[in-house]
Amino acid sequence: MPVQHWLNRYHTGVPSVDQMHDALFDAMDRVYTDIINKAGSAKIAKQIVELADQLSEHLDEEDAEMAKAGYADAEPHAANHRSLRVQLQALKKRAAAGGNIGTDALDALNQYFTVHIKQFDLAWAKTL
Ligand SMILES: [Fe+2]
Ligand SMILES: [Fe+2]
Repeated sequence: MPVQHWLNRYHTGVPSVDQMHDALFDAMDRVYTDIINKAGSAKIAKQIVELADQLSEHLDEEDAEMAKAGYADAEPHAANHRSLRVQLQALKKRAAAGGNIGTDALDALNQYFTVHIKQFDLAWAKTL
C-alpha cells in the first residue's frame, strides 16, 4: 500500500515528530506489503513485534516531551496513548501466538494512529 502520497496530511511541521511518524508509516507500509505478498507468518509476526515496539517507544518519547514542556493538554493525549498501547499489546500477543494477522488487524491500528495524529499530535505540535 503506497502511503507516501498521503503522508503530508499528517505532518505537524515539527521535524523531529514528523521523522518519527514517517518512520512508523514506512514500517506499517512494509508490514502491509508482506501481508499482501504472503511473506510468511514468522516474518510478519517479527515485523509486527518490531512495529509495536517502535510505536510504543514513540509514545513514550511524546509523553516525556509533553511532561518536560508542561503541556496543558498532556493528560487526554497521554490517555489516548494508553489506549493505543492496549491495542499494540493485543496485536503483539496475537502475532506471538501465531495468530493470523491480516490487513484488518493493521487497518485498525493504522486508523487509530492516523486519527490520533490528527486529533492530538497536530494540536500538541502547534504549541512547540
Ligand atoms: Fe501522540
Ligand atoms: Fe505521534
